[in-house]
Amino acid sequence: MMVTVRSFAKINLGLSIGALRADGFHELGTVYQTIAPHDVLRVGIAKGSGIEIRCPDPRVPTDETNTCYRTIELAMAALRGKGRVLLEIEKRLPVQGGLGGASSNAVAALLALERALKKPLSAVKKLRIAAEVGSDLPLFLVGGTVLGVGRGEQVYPLPDLPSTYCVLAAPEIGISTPKAFADWDAIMAGPAERRSTGQPGAAVPMRNPGKLTVSTQSDNIVQFGRTVSSWLSGSSGVPARGRGRAETPLLDLVRTGIENDFEKVVFPKYPELREVKRVLEREGALYASLSGSGSAVYGLFGARVEADQAAARLRKQGIPAQTTATLTREQYWKKIFYC
Ligand code: C5P
Repeated sequence: MMVTVRSFAKINLGLSIGALRADGFHELGTVYQTIAPHDVLRVGIAKGSGIEIRCPDPRVPTDETNTCYRTIELAMAALRGKGRVLLEIEKRLPVQGGLGGASSNAVAALLALERALKKPLSAVKKLRIAAEVGSDLPLFLVGGTVLGVGRGEQVYPLPDLPSTYCVLAAPEIGISTPKAFADWDAIMAGPAERRSTGQPGAAVPMRNPGKLTVSTQSDNIVQFGRTVSSWLSGSSGVPARGRGRAETPLLDLVRTGIENDFEKVVFPKYPELREVKRVLEREGALYASLSGSGSAVYGLFGARVEADQAAARLRKQGIPAQTTATLTREQYWKKIFYC
C-alpha cells in the first residue's frame, strides 16, 4: 500500500542575511509561510532493502543527491525500519524557485514513511533529522506562519496570519541558493560606503534608514529580531485600520518594513524579476517580494478579484502566474494526508 501526501511550498515574508559562520552557513532571520501549491508524493515499503526514488521530471535527481534520500535513510535508521522504500514524486512546484520544494518533499516523505511503516518518530527526532538534512526542512514540520532563525533551521510557530490570497509568479529561471549567498558575500565584502547598486563590491542599502552608521551583517539580524518582536507585541507603528480582519495582522507585519535581502543580489542580475514585483504592487498587492533566493515572486492580496487581475496581467506578459492562498497551520496539517 502506498501512502499519498501533499508536499506544500513556502514563501518567505522577509529574510535577513547575517554573518557568514565558521560552518559555511549564514545567520538568517526569516518568517516562513506555507502556501497551497504542492507536489504529490507516494511512499511504499517493498521487500528487500535500499531506497528507490522515481520521478519523471528530469530536473529532479533520483539518486542519493535528492534531499528525500538522505532524509529517508536517517528516518529508516532511527525507526529501525525494514524493507525497500519506494518514493514516487509528482513534481508540480518549480525547481530552484525559492519555494522550498525539495525540502518540503523530504519532510513529506518522512511523514509518509512513518505512516507506511506504522511507526511514529518523536517530534524532536523528526526536527533533528530535518535540520541535519537542510536549513529549509524543519519549517515543514511546523507549517503555517513560522519564525526561522539560526541558519533557518531553528523554527518556532508564530501566531498564524489568516489565510490570504497569494499570486505566485514562477518565471522560468533557476537560481542556485549557494550562489545567491556567495553573491551576497561578494557585495558585503565591498567597501561599505559603495554598497548600493547590488554589484559585487558595491553597496547594499540596509534597512533602518534612520540610522547614521552603516549596518554590519550582525546588525541586520538584530534589527530583524526587533522587527519581529515589535510586530508580535503589536507595537509595529501605525495601526492597520480600515481593512478587513484577515488583512490586519499581515498589514501590521508589512508595515514593520520587512524585506528579503536576496532581492539586493537577485534583482540586479534578473531585472525581469524586479519588474514582476512592480506589477504585483501596481495591481494592489498588500505586500510583494521575492521568495527565498527566487526566482518565484509573490504578491499577497486582500481580494480575490485583484489577485486574479494581477495573475492575468503577468500571464499576458508571458510570466506563468496563478492565484493561490496561504495555508494556516491547521489547514496545512489537515491537507497533508489524502485520507
Ligand atoms: O541547508 P541547505 O542544504 O539548504 O543549504 C544549501 C547551501 O546554501 C549551503 O551549503 C550554504 O552554501 C547555503 N546556505 C547558507 N546559509 C544558510 C542556509 C544555506 O550559506 N543559512
